[in-house]
Amino acid sequence: MLKNKILELKAQKSALILAHYYQEDAIQEIADFTGDSLALSKRAQEAENDVIVFCGVHFMAETAKILNPTKKILLPDLEAGCSLADSCPADAFAAFKKDYPDHFVVSYINCTAEMKSLSDLICTSGNAVQLVDALPKELKIIFAPDKNLGAYVNQQTGREMVLWNGTCHVHDQLKTQFVMELKMKHPDAQVVAHPECSGPVLALADFTGSTAAMLKFVRQNESKKFIIASETGILYQMKKENPAKEFHIVPVDETCACNDCMYMKYNTLEKLYDCLLNEKPQIFLPKNTIAKAQKPLDLMMKMSKSLKII
Ligand code: 13P
Ligand code: SF4
Repeated sequence: MLKNKILELKAQKSALILAHYYQEDAIQEIADFTGDSLALSKRAQEAENDVIVFCGVHFMAETAKILNPTKKILLPDLEAGCSLADSCPADAFAAFKKDYPDHFVVSYINCTAEMKSLSDLICTSGNAVQLVDALPKELKIIFAPDKNLGAYVNQQTGREMVLWNGTCHVHDQLKTQFVMELKMKHPDAQVVAHPECSGPVLALADFTGSTAAMLKFVRQNESKKFIIASETGILYQMKKENPAKEFHIVPVDETCACNDCMYMKYNTLEKLYDCLLNEKPQIFLPKNTIAKAQKPLDLMMKMSKSLKII
């Protein structure tokens, strides 16, 4: 059985398997640790294993390499990208930044290593509001690349950050129409949304937060029904932790009750096995990119610890 072969190889190589909540169920089942981007970054930074297999997307594996550069970071499929990271090419951002020479750059972790190296502070959906709120009030800020998360942070903190015009194609495509239809069918359900959703969808949510925060909310809330405006993979943990609760994912259209990130689903058990066996594909980054990108990531970790977020 493939699962046992992966576990044997993992033990032989003393490797660590990390998985994001949007990975397919079988990968989440086999992982040593499953989490949101913030928790995964922390776990990767603290890891002592020489080999770390990152079951997530490319920017997450790159982040692990920046935070723990001496380790071998493997990604089962190098094509596992992110439309949000792609929406902000570093050279275009560098040109944009020139128009705001006195601004501090806060970048969402869903961006390339090169983009991180152009930033002053990195945040995730799990700490964006608190980190921005903790910055001096008079500081002028550019927020990139997610305009939806940026607008949400502006609304929550009363800031007027300049926003880069990027989105996640998975969350941004969700429409209020389908949230409303589910609300009509299940008037007793709580609506839970990821902050990468558009403003009108977030306005319908009872709770907005990172994947880990959504899981915590569902665990602690007394309601028996939840409407989830996020990626379908999150349902694996939600159902596992709350077998007596009912979940309805906001669909993309009338044809399927799902909302999948194709990039997250590029990783499979087969590719995970091959990747452990051959110790590739591996993440490589130029030393100077690691050095530059480390600064805003280290600041994120430091601020998150002092604000007791992690
Ligand atoms: P989280 O940090 O909330 O897990 O989100 C990562 C992501 O890519 C959401 O689309
Ligand atoms: Fe990127 Fe969106 Fe996929 Fe998250 S769900 S990895 S933001 S494309």
